[in-house]
Amino acid sequence: MTKPFVYITRKISDDVVKDLEEHFEVEMWEQEEEVVPRDLLLRKANQADAILSMLTDQIDEELLSQSPNLKVVANMAVGYDNIDVNAAKRHQVVVTNTPDVLTDTTADLTFALLMATARRLPEAIDYIKDDLWKTWSPYMLAGSDLHHKTLGIVGLGSIGQAVAKRATGFDMNVIYHNRSRKEDVERQLGVQYASFDELLQQSDYVVCMTPLTEETEGMFDQETFRRMKDTAIFINTSRGGVVNEDDLYQALKQGDIKAAGLDVFQDEPIGADHPLISLNEVVALPHIGSSSIETRTEMMELAARNIKKVLNGESPVTPV
Ligand code: DGY
Repeated sequence: MTKPFVYITRKISDDVVKDLEEHFEVEMWEQEEEVVPRDLLLRKANQADAILSMLTDQIDEELLSQSPNLKVVANMAVGYDNIDVNAAKRHQVVVTNTPDVLTDTTADLTFALLMATARRLPEAIDYIKDDLWKTWSPYMLAGSDLHHKTLGIVGLGSIGQAVAKRATGFDMNVIYHNRSRKEDVERQLGVQYASFDELLQQSDYVVCMTPLTEETEGMFDQETFRRMKDTAIFINTSRGGVVNEDDLYQALKQGDIKAAGLDVFQDEPIGADHPLISLNEVVALPHIGSSSIETRTEMMELAARNIKKVLNGESPVTPV
């Protein structure tokens, strides 16, 4: 009997590949820095029983309808907006993601970006590299405090909660907005619920942690930025599609808000010529929220575990 075929869409850890090879026939797109070409992905999907996918792969009706043996798509990310989940359901393909293992790592990065933006760390680092440091001066590279300020978290899922936990350690006042109120978390972390409008008006820092869905697409637009304080700093480590980038650019240019720290963009990767990069008020990172060696390895392992479970006829560990 031939072994089930697993296609991996990017170069991942040898150990994870070896583990899968003990059970299945495995092929991998061997590039680390390059997305698998669409036509090759379609060809491989057509033969595959399982795909270990990245957030850069579009798993849509076109692919799913041409993949008669496909049983599981294991996305190596907590977000799965690259997958048409309804189409997968129609084609009886199980979709899994990698929640929990990346929660603390992504919260750490969110907090690092918050601090880097508030305290202008990239500018300060360049200040020395560009040989501009000539003396101490009272307001040299003066940033904004975090402590005792109000942090507004939009989307209090597990990563949002982990950010809130870090913020309370910094003596911040934490408010949140979420589809549903989370009274147990309010009690546990000492955070307070606010309407979206109240959050925008009261927050010194607005942190976007909501997944990209039809409802959240473009929710941070001209209107939302106008309702924030003009001293507010906006942070996004969820998905770029939640933000209207033209509106964010204008909001920063016009001084509707003070600064933005962004780990994610509408169309990734962006180049150095992206308009937001031209602004001193923007701290930009190349989507590295979950990027620690430990966590990325755990994400690969979890995706592989999900594939093994489904191909063995068991329930996956983390279905979406
Ligand atoms: C995720 O898992 O969705 C992250 O964005 C990947 O870093």
